[in-house]
Amino acid sequence: MSAPRPNPLPLSTPYPPSPRRAPVGTVAKPLPLIIDCDPGHDDAMAIAIAVARPELKLLGVTTVAGNATLPRTFENARRVLALLGAGDTPVAAGAAVPLVRPLFTAAYVHGESGLEGAEMPEPGGRVHEAGAVDLIARLVEASPEPVVLAPLGPLTNIALFLRAHPELAKKIAHISWMGGAIGEGNVTASAEFNVYVDPEAAAEVFSSGIPITMVGLDVTHLARMGAAETARLDAAGNRAGKIFADLLRYFLIFHRERYEWEFCAIHDAVAVAHLVDPDLVGVVHAAVDVELGDLARGRTIVDWFPQRLVERSRSASADVAVSIDSARFADLLIGAIATFD
Ligand code: RIB
Ligand code: CA
Repeated sequence: MSAPRPNPLPLSTPYPPSPRRAPVGTVAKPLPLIIDCDPGHDDAMAIAIAVARPELKLLGVTTVAGNATLPRTFENARRVLALLGAGDTPVAAGAAVPLVRPLFTAAYVHGESGLEGAEMPEPGGRVHEAGAVDLIARLVEASPEPVVLAPLGPLTNIALFLRAHPELAKKIAHISWMGGAIGEGNVTASAEFNVYVDPEAAAEVFSSGIPITMVGLDVTHLARMGAAETARLDAAGNRAGKIFADLLRYFLIFHRERYEWEFCAIHDAVAVAHLVDPDLVGVVHAAVDVELGDLARGRTIVDWFPQRLVERSRSASADVAVSIDSARFADLLIGAIATFD
């Protein structure tokens, strides 16, 4: 076996990290959180952190087509909630297709079901029949505090929510999004999957003015779970540990074949972990634009110098993730999974 390829994202940032703008939950003041996702192995692990950590109050889970079709991501999210003993968490299905593009899914990564590799429990969750946009609106309206959104898939539901309820944008405290890349993409050389699937939605969300943290491949490729970490899950001695270890063994297949890595990148879990651990991820303030053309569709153009003289000046309204403490991340994720039955 040749040596694992280096992380394909040589990252150079001209600045020291900027102060983070995403809020951090505390046990005394848990962050009200809605996760929008497309489970998805890494989505499942992100939900585990959200349920396990007392610094977060998971208000609800919405699902979007992405890694798999909507019926599958919806069912997968419900199975994950059942596994985590969060069967009373409101859950809703959202968009079955992107805003304008045909759906592009990732069975080559997550399997046809979207969550291959483990015996999952029967679906749970308190189904909100009126759908994802309505559930987000009701939860945001009812929350005494502004709510944090953690979208972990294509941003279709978030764009549709903001179109339908512009008056509620002021009650969104922050968006911690897994997606994009400063460097190389993972669907094309230009684009990461979540933004490739629905670049128009991403462009709408980035231009909404809501503070956003872009947790891109540059750091999520360093959020690694390999054999040692999988063994720690097996050794946790609980059902959740065994199931997540089985899911990782399946998830590894893609990473081995594509990158010759002996570990999985747990992309989505970083966007949620960022909300509980202020020392996990470093960010730099930047302007982010999304390419909507065909050649570089879904490219997230990260500009550290938004006041460039040669282009229109823009606000550096995004926190772009540029560093991560990989060992700290693995401990946080394994620690969360170990709390379940
Ligand atoms: O590119 C990685 C992202 O695409 C993750 O959110 C993964 O779950 C897929 O949705
Ligand atoms: Ca995802």
